[in-house]
Amino acid sequence: MDDQMTAPAGPVPEEVGQLYDRMTLLAADLLGDDTGHGYNAHLGYWDAPHSDLTYDEATDRLTDVLAGRLRIGAGSRLLDVGCGVGAPAVRIARLTGAEVTGIAVSREQVARADALAHTTGLRGQVSFRQADAMDLPFDDASFDAVLAIESMPHMPDRGRVLREMRRVLRPGGRTVLTDFHRRRSPTPTAHPLRRVMGSTTVPVDDYPAILRAAGLEFVEMLDITDETVPRSFAALAEQAKRMRLEAEDIAAQCYFNPQSVIDVDLLGYLLVVARRPRHD
Ligand SMILES: C[S@@+](CC[C@H](N)C(=O)[O-])C[C@H]1O[C@@H](n2cnc3c(N)ncnc32)[C@H](O)[C@@H]1O
Repeated sequence: MDDQMTAPAGPVPEEVGQLYDRMTLLAADLLGDDTGHGYNAHLGYWDAPHSDLTYDEATDRLTDVLAGRLRIGAGSRLLDVGCGVGAPAVRIARLTGAEVTGIAVSREQVARADALAHTTGLRGQVSFRQADAMDLPFDDASFDAVLAIESMPHMPDRGRVLREMRRVLRPGGRTVLTDFHRRRSPTPTAHPLRRVMGSTTVPVDDYPAILRAAGLEFVEMLDITDETVPRSFAALAEQAKRMRLEAEDIAAQCYFNPQSVIDVDLLGYLLVVARRPRHD
């Protein structure tokens, strides 16, 4: 399931967009209409095994753990790459006072993120548009920070996206992201992630070199698998019981109940912080 493996080919942004359109509609259908309320489409973070945060609270906690590393405040400009339905952008805008622009390849997600900006009264401070991270539609040095929560696994070329992030960052600006790494050699059960979800993992040891090649300075990399993956996947499995997913809908199984179709022990979760050098 890694990017270096042979066929099938890696993610195709248009297809990933269509997949998220469908998953977003399915979530609204099976879990209740979320229009204008928003939710995080990422894993939860529990600081300690005995933490009693609910899954929803833990997904906000992950947003906060990442936001704290962005080093932004009132008046800063943040780009959220792969913004989902907008909940992280709205939360960070409230927490920091920053102006946040979110992009995603899914039209359905962007429409819901727009609705969220409206219902939260944050239009003007938070905005969303459909765009591909491989080709960011923004001027050079137009952001103080870039965030990417779980969108990197969908990128056909991580290096190209990181170069784009560097280009739109001001010198000294940070990029904070999460990504999946593989904890051991891929097995056949890992393939649905790539084939069906358009996701790849990256070998953890490769990250510093990928950042360097994109012209970014390495700041921090943490393996946060234990704080995120096992409890999140268990919580998703519980939620899936209420959803009556069709067994043959492998994409929906992957998205809403990953441990039912993929080898969970394979997946590790990384928090990565990098910076555009102050002087080129
Ligand atoms: C797992 S979701 C995470 C959403 C959001 N960051 C959150 O935490 O709620 C992955 C996101 O990446 C976006 N995405 C995938 N490929 C993309 C691409 N090539 N360009 C921009 N966004 C992309 C999807 O549309 C989706 O919003």
